[in-house]
Amino acid sequence: MPDSYIQNLFAERIGGAQYGKSQAIYKFEKIKRAKRAAMALHPDAEIIDLGVGEPDEMAFPEAIEKLSVESRKPENRGYADNGDAVLKQAAARYLDRVCGVKGINPETEVLHSIGSKAALAMLPAALVNPGDYVLMTVPGYPVFGTHSIYYGGFVYNLPLLEENGYLHALHRVPPDVLKKAKVLVLNYPNNPTGASATPEFFAHVVDFAKANRLVVIHDAAYAALVFEGQPLSFLSVAGAKDVGIELHSATKAFNMTGWRCGFVAGNELLVKAYGDVKDNTDSGQFLAIQHAVAECLDHPQITEQIATKYSRRVNALVQVLQAAGFRATKPKGSFFLYVEAPKAVIKKDASRVPFRKAEEVSQWLITEKFLSTVPWDDVGGYLRLSVTFVAKNLADEARILDQIAERLADVKFEF
Ligand SMILES: Cc1ncc(COP(=O)(O)O)c(C=O)c1O
Repeated sequence: MPDSYIQNLFAERIGGAQYGKSQAIYKFEKIKRAKRAAMALHPDAEIIDLGVGEPDEMAFPEAIEKLSVESRKPENRGYADNGDAVLKQAAARYLDRVCGVKGINPETEVLHSIGSKAALAMLPAALVNPGDYVLMTVPGYPVFGTHSIYYGGFVYNLPLLEENGYLHALHRVPPDVLKKAKVLVLNYPNNPTGASATPEFFAHVVDFAKANRLVVIHDAAYAALVFEGQPLSFLSVAGAKDVGIELHSATKAFNMTGWRCGFVAGNELLVKAYGDVKDNTDSGQFLAIQHAVAECLDHPQITEQIATKYSRRVNALVQVLQAAGFRATKPKGSFFLYVEAPKAVIKKDASRVPFRKAEEVSQWLITEKFLSTVPWDDVGGYLRLSVTFVAKNLADEARILDQIAERLADVKFEF
């Protein structure tokens, strides 16, 4: 197809005149292609998907019922703009009851989001000027960084290392970067490592932010999914509200992925700035959805049930992986296991397949074992396995876990 004049009109931030011409295939597309190829070659094989990053089940019946009731109310039909009081008040109650965060003002310190992804995409508009640095992590969820670059900012990536418990080593940020840095983005429990923060680490972050005049954005997408104790909110640490905001989401907490709803809470000025950008970007999530999410926020036992299921599955998958030679340990929360990728595999016929990176391990697992995983090669080679695979019931869940064990039993991995 010859180039149309449109080809020359694209903004540099998405590739300019070269937009769409790259032959590079991204990680997730490669996995999808390998999965499709495996299915085409073996149409009867059961692919076990340990690669998905979203809940496997529907929202709870009480949420669906509430949506049904609320969607019939004429007053909920129109533009929601920055939302009414219902979700804001429920969010403040939730932060208090579930996370022990006292004194959040629902009028000025909470605002809904159309999912945390949308909030992360908007916040750079409020904070990033050309030349500003933002501190992100590798591995990590890149959306805030991508949009910061769109605004002419720079991303400084902090490696999350196993030896630090996958917490940011903040003292490693070079002073010249720190001088130009404005924002520090955190995410705990973390995608993909599954690591959790500690109150001491968050207290250190507050001190670091104050000392270096940084805004902290804590992406708490998995915060509620903990396997023991109470979810840890960044806002529960003294001084956190002076430096930052926290993003919560109904996606993982309440199995409401497609509903697209969450909230931003914390520093009043930052919440206001987010609200101003949001007001100029979208017209708010459907109020009936916001009200259904509010109902869930008042029923945190929903999340507890979901977390209990993931905990059970994680226990089983850790055992399966350990038996296959992986160094797998149970995280304190999330639904991810993050394990070092093997360097090679010895097959039944004694042949040896070497792997140069985690991506090759992932390709081998899907092609040979019909197991879908996500490789991370940013800092060492690791595989992310998610326990959100679809199972009809408990017996089916046990069968799938047995299947994974069986498929890995006739090979030996080298690390
Ligand atoms: C770390 C992290 N942040 C944010 C999101 C987006 O969540 P939401 O569905 O609320 O947009 C995800 C989704 O996978 C995530 O893993």
